[in-house]
Amino acid sequence: MAFEKIKIRSYDWQIDKVGVEDLERRCEVGPIEHVFLFTDTLGDPISRIRNSPMYNILVAELNNEIIGAIQGSIKVVTLKDHLAKVGYILGLRVASLHRRKGVALRLVHHMEEWFITHQVDYSYMATEKDNQASVKLFINKLGYIKFRTPAILVHPVNDRWLRLSSNIEIMKLKIEQAEFLYRKFMSSTEFFPHDINRILKNKLSLGTWVAYFRDRSSSDIEFAIDGRVPKSWAMISVWKSTEVLKLRVGKPTFSCMFYAKGSSMMDRVFPCFKVQALPDFFNNTFGFFFVYGVYREGPSSGKLVGELCKFVHNLATESKDCKVIVTEVGGSDTLKLHIPHWKLLSCPEDLWCIKALQYEERKTLNDLTKTPPKTRTLFVDPREV
Ligand SMILES: CC(C)(COP(=O)(O)OP(=O)(O)OC[C@H]1O[C@@H](n2cnc3c(N)ncnc32)[C@H](O)[C@@H]1OP(=O)(O)O)[C@@H](O)C(=O)NCCC(=O)NCCS
Repeated sequence: MAFEKIKIRSYDWQIDKVGVEDLERRCEVGPIEHVFLFTDTLGDPISRIRNSPMYNILVAELNNEIIGAIQGSIKVVTLKDHLAKVGYILGLRVASLHRRKGVALRLVHHMEEWFITHQVDYSYMATEKDNQASVKLFINKLGYIKFRTPAILVHPVNDRWLRLSSNIEIMKLKIEQAEFLYRKFMSSTEFFPHDINRILKNKLSLGTWVAYFRDRSSSDIEFAIDGRVPKSWAMISVWKSTEVLKLRVGKPTFSCMFYAKGSSMMDRVFPCFKVQALPDFFNNTFGFFFVYGVYREGPSSGKLVGELCKFVHNLATESKDCKVIVTEVGGSDTLKLHIPHWKLLSCPEDLWCIKALQYEERKTLNDLTKTPPKTRTLFVDPREV
């Protein structure tokens, strides 16, 4: 294959939609020896990024066939107490037959050039730490640096309604209230998006809820714009990923299959044991809710987070497609102790890598990657899931 024949160009939704969908369908993501996930973008290859303030898709074409694709989005976030313009790389795929020929390398270089023309300070990407191809490509070849290792927490949704505690109040916030609280309490969190208002107003955002203990001291608290909040409280927002993306598990491990079958049988035969049945997601595609912007403050606020998670589970049972609830939190964030998740389905270390694209930022990148984050929390943008 002559290298020159491969053309890297912008995605044209009229002619490339089918080719990119087909490529996505054929590309498994993740290490071959483990369970891997196929994503189904429901006939819309740009569904994952179309909610970002600025985005781009590039394709690699050979003899009128799409053999590679990459997506990128740009936004402004908090990074090391400052605002920085960041470009996120996602959806990098190269057809199996054309791998190890430098196609991915060219796609990333082109995307970085697009970032640079839009004054992006840093480019970053996330991958499974076991995805050798991706890790070697970005770190060894492209000069990215390991940055953070958040945990992806996954919890299955079964059709049982979970009982909520009677001494905890859960309240849905208005969008303006939610924006106010996020800007007041989370704006210094790493990767906090400057356009949080656009996320909260998006039709995929199901809402933001707060939880607090029902007692006399909190009876007149309204989470109003005056900024008054109870001594202990927690907040959570939910994104309906079900409407843009479906997942399918490929090559389930034996233990996973065994557990799925065993747990649903136990659930039917001995409901009193309260064994949670794993939904049957090995044979079907399934949707998920993404929980983002989790915040807590005050004594026993972990319990409030747990209660909000139960509340989200109950919401998910009402959606026929939602089989799992996913959230992503900073690697050392103690929040994960309060967010119910199954180890079998979760990923303890997602790997985020970063690269400075501007001269000035190159000087500070060392500082950014060598020192642990000031806060352990990380804001994972639901638009990038
Ligand atoms: C990861 C992926 C995009 C790489 O595409 P590619 O076109 O084969 O990559 P390139 O040919 O440009 O490789 C450039 C470098 O990356 C590294 N690399 C790529 N594939 C590798 C592999 N399978 N094992 C080890 N290193 C690999 C090598 O350093 C390689 O340089 P070399 O060939 O000179 O040794 C491709 O394997 C793929 O589509 N995988 C499935 C989807 C996926 O995992 N995407 C990444 C999500 S972040």
